[in-house]
Amino acid sequence: MHKDCERVLISEAELKNMVKAMADRISEDYKGKKLLLVGLLKGSVMFMADLMKELSIDCKIDFICVSSYGSSTETSGRVNLIKDVSQPVEGMDVLIVEDIIDSGNTLAFILKYFQAKGVNSVKICTLLSKPDRRVVQIPVDYVGAEIPDEFVIGYGLDYAENYRNLPYVGILKRSVYS
Ligand code: IMP
Ligand code: MG
Repeated sequence: MHKDCERVLISEAELKNMVKAMADRISEDYKGKKLLLVGLLKGSVMFMADLMKELSIDCKIDFICVSSYGSSTETSGRVNLIKDVSQPVEGMDVLIVEDIIDSGNTLAFILKYFQAKGVNSVKICTLLSKPDRRVVQIPVDYVGAEIPDEFVIGYGLDYAENYRNLPYVGILKRSVYS
């Protein structure tokens, strides 16, 4: 385990099972649809790669990147799109792939953004969710795990751009950020 980690919250093996179960549901639900997975950079990268490998249906993929103003452990309501998708999305069944939902600000913005683009449908798939921290209520269609209000790192998730490469999800030691 990394020295800045308090403890492992979700192990590599648990993540694998979790992602497979989500992919199975998505494969079933999106049969015959025009699935476009849209990952949010950079946190979703590891989850997205594992999720798409487990899908048994055809899909396209793309990425968007947003910036949000706020401290490094909390986002604000102000979200800016800094990289858009690079293909037409009209008529597509867009599934937003996110690492974690905290306040809900980021995804509330992204949902509205895609709804205005004439997609056939837009849904949300997140590896993790912290329901106790929600400020904006948004519909979340696929959730890997609901977790307590702790700052987590690994499996794509960062603190100050570090720890994304850890193969598990761990709780960051408070001494690292306070
Ligand atoms: P929201 O807009 O408040 O829902 O924040 C979502 C974004 O905040 C995620 O995409 C993450 O980048 C970041 N975030 C929220 N909680 C954590 C955490 O515990 N660890 C790492 N990043 C987090
Ligand atoms: Mg982040």
